[in-house]
Amino acid sequence: MKDEVKVIILAGGAGERMGNDLPKQLFVLDDGVRILDLTLSAYEALPEIDGITVVFNENYRRTFFQTCCRYHKITQMVTGGPTRQESLRAGLIVTDSRYILIHDSARPIVCKRAVRECIEKLKLGSLAVHTIFPAYATMFIVKDKQVVNTIDRIEIAEPQCPVGFGSEILTDSLAHATSMGKEFKDDITMVRFANPNCKFDLIVGHQNGFKVTYPEDIDFLRTYLQLKGKQ
Ligand code: CTP
Ligand code: MG
Repeated sequence: MKDEVKVIILAGGAGERMGNDLPKQLFVLDDGVRILDLTLSAYEALPEIDGITVVFNENYRRTFFQTCCRYHKITQMVTGGPTRQESLRAGLIVTDSRYILIHDSARPIVCKRAVRECIEKLKLGSLAVHTIFPAYATMFIVKDKQVVNTIDRIEIAEPQCPVGFGSEILTDSLAHATSMGKEFKDDITMVRFANPNCKFDLIVGHQNGFKVTYPEDIDFLRTYLQLKGKQ
């Protein structure tokens, strides 16, 4: 219990932008594996992980339980809420470890090295750790169909998973956000809202830590998995 690390896998979304009958995390890939299986099997195989909480979409309860029953490290399964933050709250209530990782099931390629580095930093005393991936190119800020500014690539990075916290700062920050009626789309902004001086340790993820959002992303994921299988 003392130094336990558990991961909350957020799979409570509906995948509206994907436009499928099933939420994207339940999509079955060519080999019969669901997208959610990729995240679950990666964490199941990591000896540094002591337990897994799955936050699922209640409308597909049976499919979630059928998928999740194969993973022995899953200790909790809870229904998510209408937003990512509400789903995180549901997961956090039932996750009692000293260190907590958060992983979006929409980012199914888990970088095990990043997970290990995240845990190492937490155990060395970091309160908050975020995985990022540096941008490859300059980005444009577009308003009213016009480029109004550019951001140099060295100033920006893609947020990836996992995100890691000491459980106290995460619980307190979430409680603060709730009490102030604030809803955040990402964990850094939520924790910073309660702790403006909190410094996140950053670790570099993986080129393929992308988020599955649109149908094309599934094609890309399939190609990645096929290539990986052939290596
Ligand atoms: N998520 C969640 N509960 C919600 C909304 C999102 O657990 N109420 C999770 C998703 O399952 C996903 C992650 O948060 O793993 C990131 O969300 P996103 O990619 O936006 O997924 P969806 O909300 O499912 O997709 P969409 O926004 O297209 O509906
Ligand atoms: Mg969403």
